[in-house]
Amino acid sequence: MLINKSSPLKGEVTIPGDKSISHRGVMLGAIAQGTTRIMNFLQGADCLSTIDCFQKMGIEISNDNSGITIQGKGLDGLSAPTGILDVGNSGTTVRLISGILAGQSFSCELTGDESIQSRPMGRIITPLSQMGADITSIHSNQCAPLAIHGQQLNGIHYHSPIASAQVKSCILLAGLYADSETGVTEPYLSRNHTELMLKHFGADIKTKQTTVTVEPKPRLVGCDIVVPGDISSAAYFIAAALIVPGSELLIKNVGINPTRDGILRVCQDMGANITLLNTVHSAGEPVADLLVKHSSLKGTVIEGEIIPALIDELPVIAVLASYAQGTTIIRNAEELKVKESNRLDIIVQELSAMGADIAGTDDGMIIHGGRPLTGAAVDSRLDHRIAMSFAVAGLAAEGATEILRSDCVAISYPDFFKDLVHLSA
Ligand code: S3P
Repeated sequence: MLINKSSPLKGEVTIPGDKSISHRGVMLGAIAQGTTRIMNFLQGADCLSTIDCFQKMGIEISNDNSGITIQGKGLDGLSAPTGILDVGNSGTTVRLISGILAGQSFSCELTGDESIQSRPMGRIITPLSQMGADITSIHSNQCAPLAIHGQQLNGIHYHSPIASAQVKSCILLAGLYADSETGVTEPYLSRNHTELMLKHFGADIKTKQTTVTVEPKPRLVGCDIVVPGDISSAAYFIAAALIVPGSELLIKNVGINPTRDGILRVCQDMGANITLLNTVHSAGEPVADLLVKHSSLKGTVIEGEIIPALIDELPVIAVLASYAQGTTIIRNAEELKVKESNRLDIIVQELSAMGADIAGTDDGMIIHGGRPLTGAAVDSRLDHRIAMSFAVAGLAAEGATEILRSDCVAISYPDFFKDLVHLSA
């Protein structure tokens, strides 16, 4: 995809459904009793992988223009899969589904693409094993492919060393199959969509600060879910409007759950002109329209408990920081190294190639903003968030930016480039 320096971005864009919430809707719908309908489901490759896995375990799921309909079979209604479960590029699928599979009465194997096969799974193997699960890394490297032989599980209270919603959710889902209460305490609060949705389906779940507990064997009941727009997808339009002079965008239907809204708080610190309009609630999740106007930004410090609330937005925040005046320091973001790609290294390498003054540190980066950027050829490394972040960087850079292997945007936002062009980019 070739990106040229853009004229002002104007108009409205409606953000597609949230990836995290779409995954969870399918998973809970499959193990609930009765029908679940999901409106505004994200038709991205990752969420389609989750659907495929549950179809392979005997769950009837239809997917048409009106949304997704799942005929749930209850907690013990899954059947042994017809083959190896392939999660594609989706870390959320492999980690969350492992929690469910650990408590089944059958065995199965899980795999995914090259990226998935190099991402750390020890973080779920350790707590699941403490619960009595039989889960192993087939190549003994703590990565997928994984073999899971379903077992009767016992409840534990796990102190997670990382603030990861994927780890927390994996344990809570396994906890549904345990013989006693299961709890997770994390260092900082990570996104809480699993907790909100479990409650929506009827589970007995309690949250106190950064601790969540769930009671086993709930009666989950199928329900209707309207998925809010994904703030992680909205982030690219927020950033584009802020850095392209003269822009003004109305970004509609954005989920602003406080465990996900870190980018809004950081933008505010940087001096961004963003107004929240029409705030409503949908299935326990707050949603708003965002009016974003081009702004002169200044550097900031991003560290500590806000990191999990903006972890997927850090690539595009680094782009914002490059266009801001002054220094931005990002700390405590070592998790960026184990996402779909090593985002820390790639951001530093590619923003440097565009002329930014940026240096990587052990757990983040330091960006001295305000230097003009010039277009470059940027390889996405098949990481959707790298492709979209550098497309945004290219909108305000001199000359052309070429995004190589840009098709990977289909993982979370199939119409990303179409929507960008529609706003006259
Ligand atoms: C996700 C949690 C985050 C995030 C990922 C989606 C989820 O990962 O990076 O894109 O849906 O639970 P971690 O919680 O492991 O940091």
